[in-house]
Amino acid sequence: MNKDKIIKDYKTKIRELIKNNKYYYEDNKPRIDDQEYDKLKNKILLLEKEYPFLRDSNSPSLKVGHKPSKNFKKVTHKVPMLSLGNAFSENDLNNFEKKILNYINDFKFEDIEYSAEPKIDGISASLIYKDGIFIKGLSRGDGKEGEDITENLKTIRDIPQKISYKNFPSEIDIRGEVFIKNSDFVTLNDRFANPRNAASGSLRQKDPKKTEKIPLKFIAYTYGFENGMNFKKQSEFLEHLSLWGFKTNPLNKVLKGIKSLMKNYTEIEKKRSEIDFDIDGIVYKVNDFKLQNRLGYVANAPRWAIAHKFSANKGVSKILDIDIQIGRTGALTPVAKIKPINIGGVLVSNASLHNEDEIDRKDIRINDYVVVERAGDVIPHIVSVEINKRSNDTKKFLFPTLCPSCGSKTIKEYNNITKKKDAVRRCSSEGFECEKVAIEKIKHFVSKEAFNIDGFGKKIVEKFWDLKLVRYPQDIFKLDYSKIEKLDGWGDLSVNNLKYSIDQKKKISLDRFIYALGIRHIGIETAKLISRHVKTSKNFLNLQNDSTLTEIENIDGIGETQIQSIKKFFSLKINRLILKELDQVLQIESLKKITNDGLLKGKTFMFTGKLLNISRSEAKNLIEKNSGSLVSNVSKRLDFLIIGEKPTKRKVESAKELKIKIITQSEWMKMLNLTS
Ligand code: IVH
Repeated sequence: MNKDKIIKDYKTKIRELIKNNKYYYEDNKPRIDDQEYDKLKNKILLLEKEYPFLRDSNSPSLKVGHKPSKNFKKVTHKVPMLSLGNAFSENDLNNFEKKILNYINDFKFEDIEYSAEPKIDGISASLIYKDGIFIKGLSRGDGKEGEDITENLKTIRDIPQKISYKNFPSEIDIRGEVFIKNSDFVTLNDRFANPRNAASGSLRQKDPKKTEKIPLKFIAYTYGFENGMNFKKQSEFLEHLSLWGFKTNPLNKVLKGIKSLMKNYTEIEKKRSEIDFDIDGIVYKVNDFKLQNRLGYVANAPRWAIAHKFSANKGVSKILDIDIQIGRTGALTPVAKIKPINIGGVLVSNASLHNEDEIDRKDIRINDYVVVERAGDVIPHIVSVEINKRSNDTKKFLFPTLCPSCGSKTIKEYNNITKKKDAVRRCSSEGFECEKVAIEKIKHFVSKEAFNIDGFGKKIVEKFWDLKLVRYPQDIFKLDYSKIEKLDGWGDLSVNNLKYSIDQKKKISLDRFIYALGIRHIGIETAKLISRHVKTSKNFLNLQNDSTLTEIENIDGIGETQIQSIKKFFSLKINRLILKELDQVLQIESLKKITNDGLLKGKTFMFTGKLLNISRSEAKNLIEKNSGSLVSNVSKRLDFLIIGEKPTKRKVESAKELKIKIITQSEWMKMLNLTS
């Protein structure tokens, strides 16, 4: 990479970080999760390490946290509010201790004592007391400068306004964490992704009356400047905090040796689900203040403390109940309702159990403690049961034999191809007979890759269904807008907008149309294949008259499963009716003619064996882009058989018999003027 490109890449990442900082700190509405955010930060730090010429005042290497917002007066912290280094493993802890021992090089401290404090995932605040009176409260801000949020902090009952204990220092800045309990968070309306964002948002309300309504809590754990304090140890300081009237963490402990830190860490990580506030790790602080002083600071963090983080995408929680969700194909998916738990910055209260077999195999029961995993944007799922936590009150879940929505029998289909019973149980109703299935089909119809109707999301589908405004997909194009106008929350403007977005989508490409129908096994890629082949909506609709479906049987990439599914779809009267009505209101665009003068014009191809450095679908696209076409069996119609690694012998032999040209992948790529 040349220098310009590196700088450009670096600046793009910095811009992305600034944007996400704003979403997180100012709007309290993060658009990426904590893990993704950390990844972005790390990428920037790595780039800076590799290319020392990179510099930006917004780099995470120079900043702690975020600039205070404009709403509040800025105040400089007398003692900066720093951050902590992170440890993720026993090895990291050993290194942390080794560094301390090397640094002080003093055998007296061989056995370092630590104050081990669960790290609450909230918002830190600094409370300034003068002669026992709470006079000013600041947010952390960027660590150097915070916001004056005194009035908001005064609404928190855990924060004493006046302290008349005799050894309370004449001046002190008590620091701790403002947070919301998980049980309180779930009763708030869900404007926030997690309790931490809710705490941050409420703490920074312009109107303290609004803050007062949120049940914020405060736990104290350290101090900034002080005058008149002479404790020897952090643990002693913590004891006094509670004497003075502050809440401290009941799980704080004094420990020695990395092994016991690890034991405590595992114990607390297991208990995490029983604690009613989020903790994201354990903070270890060298307990002795003198030693803390000797150790001092490196960059933004103390040498005498570290945060031992819990794994970011897993957590243990309890199954409160099991619900059944019904999908558009009738599949019954069990979903565990779990005690809300924060995983990687998102409060998770539902987790997928996949299917009936999975519940049986893992012997998952109601009231069990389970490991829940959340990765990226997919629905969190249950990984395993914590068997040693199982109590007598667990209940086996009986999978419904009748559909909870329509009462039809639920069945496990026999798969003719795999010769096995399906793991998924389905509602045996057909078409739009089952209410839940019908709603899901309509949701699919308007979804992003299908009709993608702006402002017509899942919630609207449910609402319009309840109001009997839609029953079938075609109803969307015949809505009674005069009824909608009268609904709560709808006005002229919103109705016009909806009408406009629906009208816009009356023109649709054939592939999207086919996909939107929600035919089982016909995903977006297969829908594209079919549309490329049948070319016009008329031909597609004609498939219903073709009981053998000869039209599409030869398409490479379409197999028996798809053919059967399409047949079944057309065999239902209701589907034929829907198609007819949709065809009347829509303008289904035939596939644009692919320019017919590409390099492979008029030639047919077939692959056998594994291709090098290119996927089958990319290879297919390349052929089609260049005006060639693919066939799925060796016949006289085939011009070229392209062989990759381990080709199927039978195909090569029949090609030889028919005197079809057999070429290698690189010969084929040469035809395209590409080199492999
Ligand atoms: S001590 C220099 N103790 O963790 C040490 N921090 O990344 C400063 N936190 O901003 C902090 N529990 O919001 C300390 N028992 C605890 C803590 C704790 C949570 C948070 C705090 C701080 C962040 C450090």
